[in-house]
Amino acid sequence: MTEPIPTTPLAVDEIRLGDLEQWLRPDREGLFAKLRAERPVSFHDEPVPPPEISFPQGPGFWALTRYADVMQVSRDPDTFHSAPSINIGDIPPEIAEWLGSMINMDAPKHTKLRLIVNRGFTPRQIAKIEESVRRQATEIVDRIAPTGECDFVAEIAAALPLQIICDMMGIPREDNKRLFELTNVILGVGDPEYVSSLEELMGAGMELFQYGLALADDRLRNPRDDITTTMMHAEVEDENGTHKLTASELGSFFLLLVVAGNETTRTAISHGMLELTRRPDQRKLWADDFEQVSPTAVEEIVRWATPVIHFRRTATRDTIVGGQEIKAGEKVVMFYNSANRDERAFDDPYRFDLTRTPNEHVGFGAGGPHFCLGANLARREIKLMFEELLRRLPDIEITGEPDMLQSNFIHGIKRMPCAWHTVAS
Ligand code: HEM
Repeated sequence: MTEPIPTTPLAVDEIRLGDLEQWLRPDREGLFAKLRAERPVSFHDEPVPPPEISFPQGPGFWALTRYADVMQVSRDPDTFHSAPSINIGDIPPEIAEWLGSMINMDAPKHTKLRLIVNRGFTPRQIAKIEESVRRQATEIVDRIAPTGECDFVAEIAAALPLQIICDMMGIPREDNKRLFELTNVILGVGDPEYVSSLEELMGAGMELFQYGLALADDRLRNPRDDITTTMMHAEVEDENGTHKLTASELGSFFLLLVVAGNETTRTAISHGMLELTRRPDQRKLWADDFEQVSPTAVEEIVRWATPVIHFRRTATRDTIVGGQEIKAGEKVVMFYNSANRDERAFDDPYRFDLTRTPNEHVGFGAGGPHFCLGANLARREIKLMFEELLRRLPDIEITGEPDMLQSNFIHGIKRMPCAWHTVAS
């Protein structure tokens, strides 16, 4: 059966992707379907920054909504730079200084940093933490099982990724809660529940950065079996000699890691559970043959959720994307959510199909040098969390509407009630 393509009563000229009010419309999927069909590359004013965050409003951006155009831009890092920022708005220089992580950089600096941090994310390193992921997932279910109900996001989905990153980096447990609060402040920009002022935002980022600095210094002096130590002692060679990570680079990377690895994985797990509740046939299919279905199920959950809605690039020269001329210096925004529903790339894209093959989604990015560093880790976390949930709480389901994060960047769910009756050992 083919799921219908969503629609909107708005005309294409009325669609304004920079308007955060429009962003909250129930027919958002319809807006993107219309753009893909009628104006796949379109120009928009930038969102007006919330009054309490006095960022300047920029000159506007090109929105890419088709899969092929997103692929073209992501895989051409010479023409489309990640610097100065992968967010639509330009970050004020006083923040960019410490937020200047590799995600906003281009070759050759990005290449050098990526070579170093890759050492912490090799298949061997990830396999090593598999046990820790499994243990965490078990502990989470042990903790909630007797209660019969809880907030799925806070107590299940969010608890796992943060703990794993903290374990990998070698962070003591008592610090986790504070780190969790700080990442919420940074990613909740635009949602009044989380951020109230630019000072608060800067304060949260600075605190995370400082935490990373202290961690780096400590591991230089006291090596341990964690990826902070691996990264601080790794060396890479290029024509200019040997490089090691500085403590400040580790600080920025740490900030990136807790932000990039946390909310994204939590969002994927939350949307996954929501859709499994809505689609009992898919849930049964997975539960009945967990190992066999898992590889495709995990990819479909990431495609379906598309936790990161967009990343921006900046054109370095005049060029053409999807038939549209783009001038040097203009902002180009890749809407992964739309690419992942593009009828030209996916068969029946609005169908949640845990056995979907092929499924070359762009949830972890569309290829190129910045492809998600944590993709394999995230895949394992999603798989092991659902393995534990479907096995131990076989009738767990979402029992209320999700409370969505007000953001055009993260497709987040803030809270969502769930309940179960049966607990298996
Ligand atoms: C379902 C979960 C996740 C999603 C959907 C996701 C998505 C993304 C996306 C879209 C990008 C940009 C790719 C590009 O520009 O080509 C990215 C980059 C990145 N991700 Fe993830 N991510 C997830 C989990 C994680 C985890 C668990 C970690 C680490 C623990 C992580 C670390 C990073 C880092 C460090 C980058 C920047 C890489 C670079 O600039 O070279 N991510 N991620």
